[in-house]
Amino acid sequence: MKLNEDEREILAGKRGKGYRKAMEILVALGDLYEAERLIPVSSTQVSGVSFKTIGEAGLEFIKDWSGDVQGTGCLSTLNPAGVDLDTAKEMGFPEDFIKKQGEIIEAYTGMGILPSCTCTPYLAGNLPGFGDHIAWAESSSVIFANSVLGARTNRESGVSALASALLGKTPLYGLHLEENRRATFVVDIDIQMEDSADYSAMGFHIGQNYDGIPFFRFKGGGEGPTLDDLKSMGAALAVGSISMFHFQGATPEAATQDLEELITVQFTKKELKEAYEKLNTLESGEEPELIAIGCPHASLKEALKVLESKTDKIIWLFVPRQTKNLLEARNTNKNIKIISDTCMVVSPLEKLDIKSIGVNSAKAAFYSYNLSGLKVRFLSLDKLLK
Ligand code: F3S
Repeated sequence: MKLNEDEREILAGKRGKGYRKAMEILVALGDLYEAERLIPVSSTQVSGVSFKTIGEAGLEFIKDWSGDVQGTGCLSTLNPAGVDLDTAKEMGFPEDFIKKQGEIIEAYTGMGILPSCTCTPYLAGNLPGFGDHIAWAESSSVIFANSVLGARTNRESGVSALASALLGKTPLYGLHLEENRRATFVVDIDIQMEDSADYSAMGFHIGQNYDGIPFFRFKGGGEGPTLDDLKSMGAALAVGSISMFHFQGATPEAATQDLEELITVQFTKKELKEAYEKLNTLESGEEPELIAIGCPHASLKEALKVLESKTDKIIWLFVPRQTKNLLEARNTNKNIKIISDTCMVVSPLEKLDIKSIGVNSAKAAFYSYNLSGLKVRFLSLDKLLK
């Protein structure tokens, strides 16, 4: 990869050890993928924040790196942490976990990264425009940025996104290049989609069985997806290796796709039913202990729907911090807890002795069962609330 003079100086250590390490990572990545050069990015989204997922080794690594840097090269935000530090104690999370989580956040903020702690940075002020180059980690935000916003990012790891955050650059390869953003297969939807959970189930089914860039379209026409549907569907697609999709009439690069010669797969009632069956691991007839909404973090519209539902179920509603600040005073239902900065997957719910959970997100269903060992009821929001 060709470097300019400034980049060569950083690599030689002129700005200190921390920035040299960041440059070494980007150069290694660029060389691996045969990138021609580095390009500027307008923002980064850094993952690897929850103590549950990065552990002691991750904490030491970040602390060590943070001692050698004094700020980022572009707008940089953080993924959800393991707990909301303001409420973790009262919710009963172990003190040691809370302490370690605090140290992680402190290390990142010391580097200049904003502690937004949400996987929907685009709902919290980190909103790239069409065609913007960015370097985001966390698969659901990556796929939303590429597909719905038309921004350009590879699926970064926590480490490469952090390197990009410090330097404001990323290697030019993969989804930054026009030719790699084209649809590679078509999905014909031959069923009426009822709500976000159906889109999420469809995303899960396609993401588990196919690779590449799908182009979705309704076989017999039909009402298009909402932004919340696309958010849920993208997160579930990205449980597999898919980092971009097109949706006829709904995403900005769909109209320019050439679909001739692409294979077409069908999504029918049968595949939808199979996806629900696969993700429902709680015995039928059993009630989940609590319902967790907001994977990815809920939009204002989704959150208001929960608050206005008059439900008597125990609900944990995961939202970006700004949304929590806006809605907390409106919440008169004691059964609903509005939580920011974390989520049902990266939070150590198992340490609270919770054994079952109800969700309307295929991604949350998959990881709650496979990562946290919880039994899951996966249904639409309306059905869960009833
Ligand atoms: Fe976000 Fe957690 Fe789901 S990070 S996408 S709410 S698993």
